[in-house]
Amino acid sequence: MPADFDTIVNLAKKRGFVFQSSEIYGGLRSAYDYGPLGTELLRNVKDQWWRSMVRMRDDVVGLDSAILQSTDVWIASGHLESFSDPLVECTNCNSRHRLDKLDDPNKCPTCGSSGTFTEPKEFNLMFKTHMGPVESEGNVVYLRPETAQGIFTNFENVRRTARMKLPFGIAQIGKAFRNEITPGQFVFRTREFDQMEMEYFCHPDDAEEKFQEWVEIRQQWYIELGMTPENLRLREHETDELAHYAAGTYDVEYLFPWGWDELEGIANRTDFDLKAHIERSGEDLTYFDQEADERFVPYVIEPSGGATRTTFAFLIDAYTEEEVRGETRAVLKLDPRLAPIKVAVLPLSKKPDLVETTQKVASRLRESWQIEVDVTQSIGRRYRRQDEIGTPYCVTVDFDSLQDSQVTVRDRDTMDQDRIPIENIVAYLTDRLPH
Ligand code: GAP
Repeated sequence: MPADFDTIVNLAKKRGFVFQSSEIYGGLRSAYDYGPLGTELLRNVKDQWWRSMVRMRDDVVGLDSAILQSTDVWIASGHLESFSDPLVECTNCNSRHRLDKLDDPNKCPTCGSSGTFTEPKEFNLMFKTHMGPVESEGNVVYLRPETAQGIFTNFENVRRTARMKLPFGIAQIGKAFRNEITPGQFVFRTREFDQMEMEYFCHPDDAEEKFQEWVEIRQQWYIELGMTPENLRLREHETDELAHYAAGTYDVEYLFPWGWDELEGIANRTDFDLKAHIERSGEDLTYFDQEADERFVPYVIEPSGGATRTTFAFLIDAYTEEEVRGETRAVLKLDPRLAPIKVAVLPLSKKPDLVETTQKVASRLRESWQIEVDVTQSIGRRYRRQDEIGTPYCVTVDFDSLQDSQVTVRDRDTMDQDRIPIENIVAYLTDRLPH
């Protein structure tokens, strides 16, 4: 059973993973700030994605393109015309809803009245602003609703400068913005979020094979990082739900507390985007295969996930409650690669010589891992706090440590303890904390 939604949201707030944006002013709906632990977790999710998608492959390179782009980009890509959701308004209570997400398309979920919706209007999700000091129609720009277009417009720049040959991919992690009609479920659907996207360019004849390959690779990524396989499934899009650019899409879905919902989409974008940019810009974005003496517009397979949404799913999936000696222990069983703090160093008491030895141990560990030194409260409470934030190892410095130069290492999941010489502590943890 998935963890209870309120428990996770409370944990995220209480332990400093996620705060409401502008909280001191009453909070801005659908935007969130990541606290010290949330920042580490989010960063670890992105690092693991980058490691598997870019660093461990020789056919994918990275990009960091601008959020603000020429409006021509959004005209060519079809976002200005088609990136919209059907909006209905209840004439009884004035609440607004996304028609395609309603359980009953005739019943207002806010006031319960039936038959009170206006005719659906297509509402464009792009945020609009102006570039420069004058607010006129001529200098309208949009905040990108997907990172992908920066990749398409740089296709030729990257191919040429990185000397890439097909098939190859360009990956990017960055902010995206959508003026969602119904944001909600905490950080699941927000108006500002992080995407992790890769556009994999290939010969049209290879597109179907690459599509299937990437669907498999992307599903495995979550499982290899410890997500419960039974909480993951693949769902193929029906024709009527495909995005305007896609010939086929699979969603990797997670069993969230409210039911199955999307984590990531893997789409066959065909040659839609490159062709659209060729047409509007007049630039040559075709590819010439010298061996085959053939020129063509590549097809694109796109795995596209949300970093913030994925972070939330890992948090939910890791949350566990166990009975230990008659008490309930809350523990985040995060894969050590994702855990915000890898090692906590805890002196048994605040006595100066113990704290001094603790700091010496901490400075050795800090070279390799994100660590935390915690000197407050009883050792039992400190273990409980570290369990709840998912710290895989606690190193305790006690009075014997001053005599025998050894420390106790406690494993988060088994709660087993090992006595280790301080000089071996880095090697001991290196064996247990994979990159
Ligand atoms: N470039 C393709 C694209 O943007 P998408 O399915 O619209 O496809 C990809 O978005 C991923 O971005 C989603 O699977 C989801 O993880 C994330 N995402 C989309 N909208 C989001 C939102 N409002 N809040 C948080 N994450 C979102």
